[in-house]
Amino acid sequence: NIPPGPKPWPVVGNFGGFLVPSFILRRLAKYRKEFAKMSSNPLSPQAGLMEMSKLYGNIFSIFVGPQLMVVLTGYETVRDAMLNHPEVFSDRPQIPLVTIITKRKGIVFAPYGSLWRTNRKFCHSTLRSFGFGKLSLEPCIYEGLTMIKTELQSLIEKAGPSGIDLTPLISNAVSNVISSMSLGQRFHHQDQEFRTMLDLMSHGLEISVSTSILLVNVFPWLYYLPCGVFKELRRAELDITAFLKKIIARHRATLDPENPRDFIDMYLVEMLAQQKGDNSEESLFSEDDLFYIIGDLFIAGTDTTTNSVLWSILYMSLYPDVQEKVQQEIDAVVGSESVPSLTDKGSLPYTEATIMEVQRMTVVVPLSIPHMASETTEFRGYTIPKGTVIIPNLWSVHRDPTVWENPDDFNPDRFLDEQGKVLRKDCFIPFGIGRRVCMGEQLAKMELFLMFTSLMQTFTFRLPEGKSAPSMHGRFGLTLAPCPFTVCVKAR
Ligand code: HEM
Repeated sequence: NIPPGPKPWPVVGNFGGFLVPSFILRRLAKYRKEFAKMSSNPLSPQAGLMEMSKLYGNIFSIFVGPQLMVVLTGYETVRDAMLNHPEVFSDRPQIPLVTIITKRKGIVFAPYGSLWRTNRKFCHSTLRSFGFGKLSLEPCIYEGLTMIKTELQSLIEKAGPSGIDLTPLISNAVSNVISSMSLGQRFHHQDQEFRTMLDLMSHGLEISVSTSILLVNVFPWLYYLPCGVFKELRRAELDITAFLKKIIARHRATLDPENPRDFIDMYLVEMLAQQKGDNSEESLFSEDDLFYIIGDLFIAGTDTTTNSVLWSILYMSLYPDVQEKVQQEIDAVVGSESVPSLTDKGSLPYTEATIMEVQRMTVVVPLSIPHMASETTEFRGYTIPKGTVIIPNLWSVHRDPTVWENPDDFNPDRFLDEQGKVLRKDCFIPFGIGRRVCMGEQLAKMELFLMFTSLMQTFTFRLPEGKSAPSMHGRFGLTLAPCPFTVCVKAR
């Protein structure tokens, strides 16, 4: 009694053996037609899967090759699975491409077990001690903002009526926050080595969801082909590895255990302490693991936050009335002389509600990160066999008409109560929910708040004259990025 779904073809399943739904749905002309009847929008994978739930229900199956995947739709279903059955649904699947690259180490793709628990616990408490708790990350975020503001001022003068693409500036400021925390160093956006690493990461991420690379999930040996995108991806992997390993080695050579400078130092100190201890053989700390954790922090923490900031600028350009209201609130509370700080958050409810509404509309990790059933279980009347890949459709949670009124409308007021205070809604879960909830949620919220308020305080954004808005479905990759856009920026 597995959940219902479209009948799979022999061997290739429903989607010809590919794991990422953007590719799946692009290929699946048959379903596209079916969905198109129901939806006036061209389909994005997350919207396509939500439409499929209208045919098959909130828990439905699809087969990717021989692999059974179960898609969870809507708030109630996702919440029930992740909060009421955490022991069963918190594992991660073995996706061949991901396994080759991550070796299932680090945090994001580590199986649910002791290594994941140790890494996550250590990472969370260490990052907390650096910033989440003591607010010491604030100056680090400000530095990035100062860089953005200075660069923007000079770009405004040069930019013509076609506007500016803000992606490189925002991406650099966001990566620098992770970099300061984990590597202990900031990089100028023109620093060649750092730029190369960021470019390699984003290029690597881009090609890793390309059609040919996804074939690695069916034929893992393809990854080692000495040509084309396979060679390119391996090159990117090698270069990133060399860059991070060099930084780790530099830390090790200059380590002063009494004065750890950053996350790497803290990890090395703990690793050395465990190696000296009685249970050194059981230690789960190693330089190899450290390398994968840092890779995870960059990959999980850069694109997600960058795209969220970019989406918020795009939405403000499209909704000038909301932008003006946000600016008025910031002017009244913070003024134009001081920089917005986290302590202002409680006094800027409309601004916070706007950020939340942008996150709700855009859900930058729309299909979450795949989970896996670690044992056969009964869930809401269906049997979910051990090894089933579980896809929580977070996008559907934030467009769920049973919990959101007019879910397709952009309306920050939905996050405010009658007194104008921020309403915390359980069904707002862009960071996921349960044991695997985003580890960087607090950091991301700090970054989003400080970047958004500072940008709104200093600049006004609008779309270039005569240029229509980009498709608001975004570009589905590892995260949901806005389609490329430029904005005209005016200093206030
Ligand atoms: C996992 C969202 C920023 C680190 C996740 C997941 C989501 C998510 C949906 C998957 C949850 C699940 O599997 O159920 C976001 C969003 C962000 C953001 C929307 C920004 C707006 C960050 C940042 C960091 C980070 C800044 C780094 C410090 C992680 C890690 C995981 C994760 C390590 C894996 C957790 C695990 O498997 O235990 N995030 N994230 N994220 N995120 Fe984030």
